[in-house]
Amino acid sequence: MSVVRLEHLTKVFPGGTTAVDDFTLTVADGEFLVLVGPSGCGKSTVLRMIAGLEDASGGDILVDGEPVTDWAPKERDIAMVFQNYALYPHMTVRQNMGFALKLRHVPKAEADRQVQEIAQLLGLAELLDRKPAALSGGQRQRVAMGRAMVRQPRVFLMDEPLSNLDAKLRVSMRAELSRLHQRYRVTTVYVTHDQVEAMTLGDRIAVIDRGRLQQVGTPEELYRTPANRFVAGFMGSPSMNFATVTLRGRDPVTVTLGGVTFPLPDALARWPGLLPYLGRPVVIGLRPAAFALAGPAPATPALPVVPLGVEALGDEKHLLFGAPRADDTEATGPAGDDGPIAVDEAAASQLWTAKVAAHADVSIGRPALLSFDLGEAHFFDPRTGEAVAAAPAGAPEPVLAAVSGRPGP
Ligand SMILES: Nc1ncnc2c1ncn2[C@@H]1O[C@H](COP(=O)(O)OP(=O)(O)O)[C@@H](O)[C@H]1O
Ligand SMILES: [Mg+2]
Repeated sequence: MSVVRLEHLTKVFPGGTTAVDDFTLTVADGEFLVLVGPSGCGKSTVLRMIAGLEDASGGDILVDGEPVTDWAPKERDIAMVFQNYALYPHMTVRQNMGFALKLRHVPKAEADRQVQEIAQLLGLAELLDRKPAALSGGQRQRVAMGRAMVRQPRVFLMDEPLSNLDAKLRVSMRAELSRLHQRYRVTTVYVTHDQVEAMTLGDRIAVIDRGRLQQVGTPEELYRTPANRFVAGFMGSPSMNFATVTLRGRDPVTVTLGGVTFPLPDALARWPGLLPYLGRPVVIGLRPAAFALAGPAPATPALPVVPLGVEALGDEKHLLFGAPRADDTEATGPAGDDGPIAVDEAAASQLWTAKVAAHADVSIGRPALLSFDLGEAHFFDPRTGEAVAAAPAGAPEPVLAAVSGRPGP
């Protein structure tokens, strides 16, 4: 069991690409930490530097307080499972799994016992004499995992180990990984580009974008209080909807979207950080789950939309519509110093998504009214993307709601 600490870890490739930029993070003893981010953001490079397969250009890697940055891979006692889990094709499952033990001259009887134990655990006991060609994709992946596990390393590194499996197998392997981790509690850094995988597997999640750590926290923290617009848009499926708006008035503060003015009750109590943004542009973020289909004569203001797409997913529907216009022309509040606000061209061409109930009567092209809970809005600085400070939340909801979204009423 081990603590892994990365201090100002940096990687600049010879061509000049900065793949990892001043990355500082501590992975606690026995923790399952998921490193998540879009393709090309530097995840594999972080992992390969921890394993010693890639030299760091700067910074340090410490295992249990000891700098290992200059150690050879095999001195670090770290096991890595890759997406393309290359098994030795001419060896049986037993030989593949026992290979690392053989290299270390572990006595045969002891090695056999360890392989047997791990194989049992992974449901591979019946397959020990087969060769990889005679295994399914999921079984091969399990052998690759078993091969790393028999070593009983100080640290596990996994680089998108499930991405070659079909969706159903991926779900069952996720459950299996969690179970194995509960049992062995080996400190693990798990890389994925899939935010659902991150939410379901991680004790904590570290979000990385363009080589930089954006935020680290529990799945619930990242979902409920994203530190910036990138994290807000990355965690949650479908993504959070964004628009640049101008907040007007004071009591209440209002926001105008799609030609309708919505009050933002207790705005400054809920988002103390909003004060400097009154009368100035700010980015509002609304999750698809914050919407519900409103009746024909709603009691509260509702957003008129024309669905461009309707996705029936069985237990809910996703409604796709053009991002609502953020009207600044009818300004009544104090004008900002920035003068007239330019139309957000990018936003105008974007689609928003609302999650509505499975039985919601909606169809493409037929106007509909959406109500939404502005209390669930997030706000971000339009220039830096930093989240505007909100008051501490009340009773947290179970994290499951964060993963599956909340169905409309
Ligand atoms: N050996 C290499 N030489 C040059 N650039 C590389 C090398 N490996 C990765 N990169 C670049 O570094 C960045 C991060 O890559 P990588 O860590 O593989 O991302 P991820 O695993 O998040 O998809 C990318 O821009 C990639 O093109
Ligand atoms: Mg990668």
